[in-house]
Amino acid sequence: MSDQNNGNHARQPSAPADRDQDAPAHGDATGSPTALVVGGASGIGLATVRAFAAEGYRVVLADVNTEAAERLAAELGVTVLRMDVTDEDSVAAGFAAVADLRAVVNCAGLSMPGPVTDLELSAWRTTIDVCLTGSFLVVKYAGRHVVDGGSVTCIASLNAHQPGTGMASYCSAKAGVVMLVEVAALELAQRGIRVNAINPGLVDTPLVAGVALVPGLREEYLENTPLGRSGSPEEIADMAVFLASDKARWMTGSAIDLNGGAHLRRYPDVLGRVRAMADGT
Ligand SMILES: NC(=O)c1ccc[n+]([C@@H]2O[C@H](COP(=O)([O-])OP(=O)(O)OC[C@H]3O[C@@H](n4cnc5c(N)ncnc54)[C@H](O)[C@@H]3O)[C@@H](O)[C@H]2O)c1
Repeated sequence: MSDQNNGNHARQPSAPADRDQDAPAHGDATGSPTALVVGGASGIGLATVRAFAAEGYRVVLADVNTEAAERLAAELGVTVLRMDVTDEDSVAAGFAAVADLRAVVNCAGLSMPGPVTDLELSAWRTTIDVCLTGSFLVVKYAGRHVVDGGSVTCIASLNAHQPGTGMASYCSAKAGVVMLVEVAALELAQRGIRVNAINPGLVDTPLVAGVALVPGLREEYLENTPLGRSGSPEEIADMAVFLASDKARWMTGSAIDLNGGAHLRRYPDVLGRVRAMADGT
């Protein structure tokens, strides 16, 4: 159902002062609000693409890996563009190609786990590059291109404030994303642009497929989740749509725990479980 007809997007945004005046490739000829979902080719991002499309948005799906998304583009009715969030030129070009941008959601992410004493610098840098520097670049260009009154959302993590063994780079990056969101919310508020984060717990996507390979790990996640189950990508996507909507019009600089209550308990001992598996204990 398109909610731009029932008031959620009724306010017509004004054009940002510094938007690139070159004709963008993906304009909005329909009057529908446009959403850009970065990291939209898989998992939470793909569910977010579907959720915004179902709400009547024109959706642009951006990802470093567009192969699968290209095949889905017609079925989803979305535009696909390649964007590498670690490359400023790529992010800048992607944003310049989208007109009348109302909502941006950054879902791009990965994790390269390992004990802090053994973690390769390259693994640390890759995680920080994609999760934190990538969020910075997306927020930087979103802040330039989103219309006044628009919305920017970053998918951070429960690990932004709940530490997990073996996850030093990921936890550090996600904590940084939440602070980035808070600073950007302060700076962009004068244009009515809201900037928020979502902190998911365990959500069943390709990113966490490895959890099932470690004996007892999934069970430990669920024991530490009061609602007793993992989340679906759609449950995160629903929150992303809500945050972009007028219903969240007074919400900015927030990091929303969306995890079945897992923030109320403790994070599983990922490293301990992996070591026990390696030791055969
Ligand atoms: N699945 C979970 O349990 C969980 C929990 C908390 C937070 N998150 C976060 O949610 C977000 C989405 O994760 P997911 O579980 O859907 O993972 P996923 O692996 O299914 O999707 C991640 C997407 O990011 C894209 N991506 C990776 N590097 C990129 C780059 N350099 N530029 C552009 N795109 C890039 C990938 O191609 C992929 O499409 C991530 O930021 C992740 O850290 C996931």
